[in-house]
Amino acid sequence: MEESIPLECPSISRRQLLNFLTGAVVATTASAALYPAAKFFVPPTEGDEDGSIIAKDRLGNPIPASQILAEPIGTRALVAGLAGEPTYLAIAKDGTLDTIGIVDNCTHLGCTFPWNPNDNQFQCPCHGSRYAADGSVVKGPAPLPLKLVQVNIEEDVIWISPWTKTDPRTGKKPWWV
Ligand code: FES
Repeated sequence: MEESIPLECPSISRRQLLNFLTGAVVATTASAALYPAAKFFVPPTEGDEDGSIIAKDRLGNPIPASQILAEPIGTRALVAGLAGEPTYLAIAKDGTLDTIGIVDNCTHLGCTFPWNPNDNQFQCPCHGSRYAADGSVVKGPAPLPLKLVQVNIEEDVIWISPWTKTDPRTGKKPWWV
């Protein structure tokens, strides 16, 4: 003889249902209200699909755009860029941050170099290469213009991403792409 197993429907009282629904509404409302506040305190994440990173100082702290823009027009600020490469950001003539950054890595043998504001050039101390303000070669032995990166500002955060479009100095595909 077959024994049947009693099927019991779990019952839920009307009060329990109301409590559950009220709790769900409160939780949703609280989340919506707290999200913007929580987002404010959480630093922006980096490493987008496009390879963007946040510009940082040598201690690894993000550098706000306002900090660089407080300097005089024409200033070249050195920041840690893609893969930690030192990268020059420039304040353009209109007082904004130039959207083109220049990687501080000589195309001859990879030395880093200072900006010389008197000559308006990047001047490599290793073997005397000179580069114009846009990174094009003025004097060898450097064989190629300096590598460029894309610079964007979002809410005072400086984002640096790989330069993959046409090199504005040569009108050609960049040599590093
Ligand atoms: S490494 Fe810059 S000129 Fe040689």
